[in-house]
Amino acid sequence: MKNLISMRDVNTQDILKLIDLAEKIETKKCKPDMSGKLAALLFFEPSTRTHFSFETAVKKLGGNSFSMSGTGSTSVKKGETLSDTLMTISMYADIIVMRHVIEGSARFASEIVNIPVINAGDGTNQHPSQAMLDLYSIKKTQNTLSNLTVGMVGDLRLGRTVHSLAQALSDFNPTFYFASPKHLQMPKYIKDDLDERNIKYEEIEDIKEVMSELDIMYVTRIQKERFAVLEDYEKVKDSYIITKKLLEGVKSNFKVLHPLPRVNEITKEVDDTEFAYYFQQARNGVFMRQAIITEILKLKY
Ligand code: CP
Repeated sequence: MKNLISMRDVNTQDILKLIDLAEKIETKKCKPDMSGKLAALLFFEPSTRTHFSFETAVKKLGGNSFSMSGTGSTSVKKGETLSDTLMTISMYADIIVMRHVIEGSARFASEIVNIPVINAGDGTNQHPSQAMLDLYSIKKTQNTLSNLTVGMVGDLRLGRTVHSLAQALSDFNPTFYFASPKHLQMPKYIKDDLDERNIKYEEIEDIKEVMSELDIMYVTRIQKERFAVLEDYEKVKDSYIITKKLLEGVKSNFKVLHPLPRVNEITKEVDDTEFAYYFQQARNGVFMRQAIITEILKLKY
């Protein structure tokens, strides 16, 4: 792995290796050494988990980082291009972690700089380090990645996390239920990928009818910031609200995952149930991001 741009570039062997490494890091069976290396954390779009878990991961590895949160204090404000910004940063750092609003921006970055690039979310396209921490969370809760029934709920069209996760899980013979409002269904190119790989999936409107079959329910936020017309958002914003009552009768191994942030799509009462796993999922991000950096920078451990 030279970069991490899309889950389409990551094969099953890479996935299993990263999960194994994250597990070793979490259980302190190994301690990769990033000392003397510098990560540039470039967040052109807002972030809490991805930004701070990468920063935590770098610190825990013994490396250093510098950060950008928005362009307000940078020369982007003076009209500097993305290309020139990236070229300049690549003169200082050993690795770039970048979140940007434009789909394809991380791929573009990886093609113009001579240091590795990790895509921390490019618009509505991909969020591969999130997919990797999601896989790690699924493995930890289910003891396997294979043959699971996974419901994905919410904004499946504009939500990059579900695009990456659907592709990542398709190496492991899943059955998917995609529950979304009509205008926020999983994009055709993702469904085409699944068809090509003979993955079973069904698009549904009501998640209630399949709750008892699910091993994992992956809930996503309806993203207000991605709607051009506020009225369109208002029409769909409350389409799915996961309550404690909805979880009655689920399988004993069932878990609710969410990449977070949430707005109102999972009620607070769910947090106290044995099924809620989203905050542990965020914690798992630190171990997985340590593993990703270790693998890409080929750190000793
Ligand atoms: N899951 C995730 O990407 O969260 P942030 O937007 O807070 O980074």
